[in-house]
Amino acid sequence: MPEIAAPKGTRDILPDEFGARRWLLDAHRTVAESFGYRAIETPIIEATDLFIRGVGTDTDIVEKQMFTFEDRGGRSLTLRPEGTAGALRASLGAHLDQEVRPVRVHYAGPFFRAERPQAGRQHQFTQVGIECIGEGSPALDAEIVEVAWRFFAALGITGIRLQVNSLGGPEDRARYRTALVEYYTPLEATLCDDCRRRLHTNPLRLLDCKRDAGLVEGAPLLWDSLDGASRDHFTAVLRDLEAAGIDAIRNDRLVRGLDYYSDTVFEFWHDTLQGAQSSLGGGGRYDGLAELLGFPETPATGYALGVERILMVARTLGTVPGVEPAAEVLVCSVEPDQAGAAAAMARLLREAAARTVLDVADRRLDRKLRGAGRVGARVAVIVGENEVAGASAVVRDLDSRSQQTVPVAELAATVARILGGDS
Ligand code: HAM
Repeated sequence: MPEIAAPKGTRDILPDEFGARRWLLDAHRTVAESFGYRAIETPIIEATDLFIRGVGTDTDIVEKQMFTFEDRGGRSLTLRPEGTAGALRASLGAHLDQEVRPVRVHYAGPFFRAERPQAGRQHQFTQVGIECIGEGSPALDAEIVEVAWRFFAALGITGIRLQVNSLGGPEDRARYRTALVEYYTPLEATLCDDCRRRLHTNPLRLLDCKRDAGLVEGAPLLWDSLDGASRDHFTAVLRDLEAAGIDAIRNDRLVRGLDYYSDTVFEFWHDTLQGAQSSLGGGGRYDGLAELLGFPETPATGYALGVERILMVARTLGTVPGVEPAAEVLVCSVEPDQAGAAAAMARLLREAAARTVLDVADRRLDRKLRGAGRVGARVAVIVGENEVAGASAVVRDLDSRSQQTVPVAELAATVARILGGDS
């Protein structure tokens, strides 16, 4: 029978890769929590309506990228393509905003989009993110950008190009949409198929077109459609970013691919990533989303970052820590008769916090010792007939090849000295 492979667009994370992933996830948790964000986990399946109403029907995500299915009761469910709508639904549904405002939450987990798989684009991918729910202050837009900025710094990632823009409020956007339609309508015949459709469904997305880039150059500027309050909000964000020592690049064409944004939007770009996948992550303010989901109007802001893309950049820059070996110590019996004594010693070492693998298989000692190298152990503890009789063990330093016989009572301390580098 043919072997079963992982589904298209998915990847296994094998043990050698897991250390890097854990390093990234730990750094994100530590940085987010240093700003007072608390962990949240929401379901991987959600009502399809959450994304139709939240992300927007005219977005690529809802139009063509969702994994949607019916449950046995005929309800439409979707594997979450993003985390903001779910985090907002969970926080407001549990009235967290009535305890503290703003509610600060962080998350990490799998997300699903049926995009054409290629480097940096998978069907299943991982995001880390934060959401700050309940206040409209521009200082919070700057705060979330700062969390991401400190996170990239904690990973040693340099060369991030932070792109920022303001989409203004609903009225600003309506004005801008009109200006865009006026500009593009006489050019309709020259537009690509996608753009001709966007002109009627979601004109803001015309700015995302790579094929009609020349036309994008000449399109009206969003800034010119913003009213005074929206401009003040954005100016305050830029000022706060500067005060935090964060270099922001104003990008008038940045519109993002989800419909729920208002005012501040941003993306983190890196030159080592190519083309469509050049964004490590992004986010912004989404003051209108709560109402779309049926909750009272609640301002909010947040970001999400792609874990696999960040790891690609960190690998290119060489900042990922080395692979952690499985164990520090291998305990082995010389013959099956000493299996019980060897197991007791392994327990003792684990209690003393040494990562310990036990090998009591019925095979030659030199083979077992070769296995020590494969699990990455630096110390071998060998238990033979004489050792059992003398309540002792042979401790071998696998780097220096020196060995000594020590009483069981001194075993943990001897091993700790070797692992600590002062044998
Ligand atoms: P997004 O820009 O759609 O934003 O996704 C954020 C990041 O997730 C992307 O920049 C990318 O790194 C990663 N990503 C997205 N799709 C894929 C894929 N198919 N394969 C690999 N990585 C991918 C959001 O999801 C918003 N929820 C961000 C947000 C939070 N806005 C406010 N709060």
